Amino acid sequence: MSQEAKTYVIIGGTSGIGKAIASSFDKDNNTVHVASRQTGLDISNEQAIREYFESIGPFDHLVVTAGSSAPAGKVVDVNITDAKQAFDTKFWGSIQVAKYAAEYIKANGSITLTTGMLSRKVVANTYVKTAINAALEAVTKVLAKELAPIRVNAVSPGLTMTTAYQKMDLSARDAMYQNAASNLPVGKAGEASEIAMAYALAINNPYMTGAIIDVDGGALLQ
Ligand SMILES: NC(=O)c1ccc[n+]([C@@H]2O[C@H](COP(=O)([O-])OP(=O)(O)OC[C@H]3O[C@@H](n4cnc5c(N)ncnc54)[C@H](OP(=O)(O)O)[C@@H]3O)[C@@H](O)[C@H]2O)c1
Repeated sequence: MSQEAKTYVIIGGTSGIGKAIASSFDKDNNTVHVASRQTGLDISNEQAIREYFESIGPFDHLVVTAGSSAPAGKVVDVNITDAKQAFDTKFWGSIQVAKYAAEYIKANGSITLTTGMLSRKVVANTYVKTAINAALEAVTKVLAKELAPIRVNAVSPGLTMTTAYQKMDLSARDAMYQNAASNLPVGKAGEASEIAMAYALAINNPYMTGAIIDVDGGALLQ
């Protein structure tokens, strides 16, 4: 039996995890809007976000997966301007999207943000991702209180084979995936479609809000 048709907005839905989420909801007469820089929306541009949601109008479910890059390195080495730019994109971008989307999301709708396992896993040379994702997880819970009855959750992926790593040297990337396969309890790196299943849970479960859903192959167990 098909479900009632819904309208979804996937910010970051043109590639990787967001694209997998968009294709999973592209059925049953649903409407799926995807946006990213390649469709003309940069989440670090507040005015553009406000105008985007004005143009969409009322809708049911918002997903944000935009902004995957952040500088790696020790706190003493990373260029602060680069670190701030990554924060502006993923942290402040996600907050801006939630802020301007909220007035258009229907009362039984939801927001699902994206964090990442480094929010709670202590790994040297990754503090920018740790800080962005930990900050987003904290605000996810605040938003779940402030925006109720709209439900607000976050999905926290572990290593997932997406376009986020397309600029890496091929052998370094293969080594990273192989390392995950050798060390993670599940014996593999993640697929975008596997992470997408967690967004469906957050969106469809009317009893879930303020949750951070870990889909990381067991990385946080180590
Ligand atoms: N892949 C992993 O291993 C992993 C692990 C932990 C957490 N995550 C998180 O999961 C989320 C999705 O990652 P992914 O692997 O799917 O990355 P991805 O394949 O690089 O996709 C990122 C998406 O965000 C869009 N985007 C980037 N910057 C943007 C901006 N300023 N404004 C609007 N859209 C922007 C990109 O499109 P445009 O280039 O067209 O803008 C693209 O659609 C990110 O938040 C990432 O931090 C990923």
